[in-house]
Amino acid sequence: MKQQTLVLIKPDGLVRSLTGNILTRLSETKLEIVAAKMCRVSRELAQEHYKQLKAQPFYNELVQYMQGELHGSHKIMALVYWGEEAIPKVRELAGETNPEKAAPTSIRGAYGRIRTTGLFENVIHASSDPVEAEREIKLWFRPDEIIRDLYPTKQAHKEVPVLEWA
Ligand code: PPS
Repeated sequence: MKQQTLVLIKPDGLVRSLTGNILTRLSETKLEIVAAKMCRVSRELAQEHYKQLKAQPFYNELVQYMQGELHGSHKIMALVYWGEEAIPKVRELAGETNPEKAAPTSIRGAYGRIRTTGLFENVIHASSDPVEAEREIKLWFRPDEIIRDLYPTKQAHKEVPVLEWA
């Protein structure tokens, strides 16, 4: 079954110049990249992304981590991968959420670590299932930033100020 999945290269991955390695590993899946961008992550975006974890003791630190506050670099790379069994294929390559339990050959096993506070600094995020993938892709991307029609869209007419080249 064809699926789409959200991948985030987290601030530690970017600061440690792991982007190339991570993208090379992900290319082993033969999936298609249908969207990609660099993002500045607001507190609201990070909170919304992990909203189901609000009650967890590590939630606030996780939000700070995703905003780049632990690495002095306020950016994340967001990508959408599309193709046959995209979700399990990317999760397999990413490895277990806990980087110390992840297979050493996986991305998290190779590059992740646990902070002394207990926070997982696991380099990438990958959607866990199709429902989460839809929620997350719609949170991080507008329809016109994705080169495939993944979900139904509607025309909206909004008068909002936009930044353009001077
Ligand atoms: S999963 O694998 O996405 O299903 O895991 P889930 O439990 O839903 O998400 C947990 C996210 O919180 C991050 N995180 C931690 N989880 C557990 N324990 C600790 N100490 C912890 N620190 C951070 C974890 O990395 C998951 O985020 P993602 O972005 O999926 O890695």
